[in-house]
Amino acid sequence: MLAILHRLDPETAHYIIIALLKIAGGFPGARRLMMRLARVDDPRLRVSAFGLGFENPVGVAAGLDKNGLAINGLTALGFGHIEIGTVTPLPQPGNPRPRLFRLIEDEGLVNRLGFPNLGLERAAMNLARARKDGCLVGANVGPNKSNVEVSSAILDYIKCLQGVHSYADYLTINISSPNTPGLRALQDKGALRDLLGELFRVIDEFEVRKPLLMKISPDMSEKELSELLDVALSFPVAGIIATNTTVDRPAGLIGAAKNEAGGLSGGPLREKSTSTIRTIFRATEGRLPVIGVGGVFTAADVVEKMRAGASMVQLYTGMVYKGAFIGRNINRGLLEYLEVNRLGSIQELIGTGEE
Ligand SMILES: Cc1cc2nc3c(=O)[nH]c(=O)nc-3n(C[C@H](O)[C@H](O)[C@H](O)COP(=O)(O)O)c2cc1C
Repeated sequence: MLAILHRLDPETAHYIIIALLKIAGGFPGARRLMMRLARVDDPRLRVSAFGLGFENPVGVAAGLDKNGLAINGLTALGFGHIEIGTVTPLPQPGNPRPRLFRLIEDEGLVNRLGFPNLGLERAAMNLARARKDGCLVGANVGPNKSNVEVSSAILDYIKCLQGVHSYADYLTINISSPNTPGLRALQDKGALRDLLGELFRVIDEFEVRKPLLMKISPDMSEKELSELLDVALSFPVAGIIATNTTVDRPAGLIGAAKNEAGGLSGGPLREKSTSTIRTIFRATEGRLPVIGVGGVFTAADVVEKMRAGASMVQLYTGMVYKGAFIGRNINRGLLEYLEVNRLGSIQELIGTGEE
């Protein structure tokens, strides 16, 4: 199946997968079968963070199901959580195609999609109807392309949070996509303080308060990251998702598409994202839970990110290279790791690489 998909244009292959997951998720029999095949039910895999309990530490990163079309399929694939989005208030087409490239030899992807999505109304409707069966669902939101200037971006984030907060288990503000010009400037301390100040004023009014996470870039200097963390700690930010794709091109990349403009993900991002997780864990002394993202393909990659300080992980590119059952395979691998190392729970790993 993967071999066939990899012969197709990457974006076409992506839409086929979303369509298949949507169809399979829509038939109760097919969904039950997927759950039977994919779920690894074991209390040792459970993790808790920001007041929520997750069945296991492996989640699906934002971008794979931007509109929440395939929630019923994805939640049956054995993940502890999935994150839909990035959702913007109004539908937008994104950048011209081609805008997604495989770096097969590097097990990486370069994308410059630019948040193509069907808009808030559709995403909220899909979230409201979703079947979750124990898999938590987060909603990742961002501004429309024309609204990245701080004051208009704030309004867009607010619209989105108001639209999705009742249906999502947690909320993420994406301030780190490299494909919406100007978006990453929201990570600067002044802009971020303004943004979080306004968002929490609105969130404080919500009847049920959901954890708010920030998704950050791997391309910040140590000083920028440290300032961002100071600002985050001065608000009730529930956690950090580290990281989004990188605009760097590490030495040694082989894939012919390596110089395409956009964000690089997968294998070549792995170390950079782990090092960002480690910096956050050290700087905050573990006070701010981190979801680690970037190049997670195997149980060993999860162990590495959790030992660096992640409370759990997410993946996207790993699914493209390792297939739909990657969540199950990683969770089985984690149980083996616990057995071999005589550990009682995966949570015991968090930050142990720092001792
Ligand atoms: C094709 C593609 C689209 C993405 N779209 C989004 C997005 O809309 N919002 C977001 O926060 N991250 C997005 N990401 C970033 C991923 O969520 C993730 O942070 C990044 O790819 C690193 O993880 P990975 O190496 O497991 O892919 C996208 C990544 C890819 C490859």
